[in-house]
Amino acid sequence: MVTVYDVAQASGLSIASVSRALNGQSGVSKTTAERIVRIAAELGYQPNEVARSLVAKSTQTIALLVPDITNPFFPELVKGVQSVADENDLLLLLVDAPADAETLRPRLAALRRKQVDGILLVASELGGDMEELFDETPTVLLDRGHSGRHATVGIDQEAAGFAATRHLIQAGHTRIAHIAGPADLAVAQLRRAGWERALREAGLDADPSLIEVGDFEEEGGHRAGARLLDREPDVTAVFAANDLSAIGFLALCADRGISVPDDVSVVGIDGIELARYTTPALTTIAQPIRELGVAACRSLLAQIEGPRPVEDITLPTTLIAGASVRGRGGAS
Ligand code: RIB
Repeated sequence: MVTVYDVAQASGLSIASVSRALNGQSGVSKTTAERIVRIAAELGYQPNEVARSLVAKSTQTIALLVPDITNPFFPELVKGVQSVADENDLLLLLVDAPADAETLRPRLAALRRKQVDGILLVASELGGDMEELFDETPTVLLDRGHSGRHATVGIDQEAAGFAATRHLIQAGHTRIAHIAGPADLAVAQLRRAGWERALREAGLDADPSLIEVGDFEEEGGHRAGARLLDREPDVTAVFAANDLSAIGFLALCADRGISVPDDVSVVGIDGIELARYTTPALTTIAQPIRELGVAACRSLLAQIEGPRPVEDITLPTTLIAGASVRGRGGAS
């Protein structure tokens, strides 16, 4: 293996000069640096990343922790983060970080050993083992969670729930149920609050019996929808807290011969690609998923360059009108 020593020998210069030239540091003339880089390339020198990181006090590595890599929302988020990592020649470590502490603890320990330069975290809270790691490493919270100490990048979750419900109200629905996300997640609580506000502002009853709690996954949407329709058969519209829950509910309606949108209208949140291909195509409040990843990674790189004031970034959502909503008067 070719080392810095070999490059120094071949160029007749000191190891210190060669190291400065190969790490783009000052102290070596431009001409000499270009000559050293050329000799290194001719010898086939590959920088030792560990040694380089010790000198530069940077591993050129960032980590992204997401709660569920099986949900199509997160791979789209990764693509946004990855595009900025590529622009900055950074390695992106993706960690599947579910909420349960037993699974998470060894993964956080492994992450700490990696000494990454920064962390992007999708999690509702930073409690327990997380606290110390995310206070000692530049960290940006993405999509969920607010700590007051870290910048957060996401959408206005309450407004998204409000917009989804208001779309159904404007279509003439008055019995609008809600398949909520996991009760312990702030993002789910905010979307439910948006449902409640939209109903109240329209003079409608935000009746708790119109709510069933799902788990942000298809199976949870299917089960919650079944409990809901068994209890409230007169429901004419459902706002599901995310697209996968809505897709699970669509499957339930198909199982029971219930027509969407003729019998029940359905709206989700996320705007995942899959929602375009359901039958019928899902009406949803789309998040700018890839742009969220881009904005969060850029915010993190700014934090890594040097501590700066915590500035949250909120990006707008857009309503994608699929074919899963029909007006009460028959209009769609
Ligand atoms: O679909 C997964 C949900 O979890 C999305 O709505 C996203 O906002 C994340 O919080």
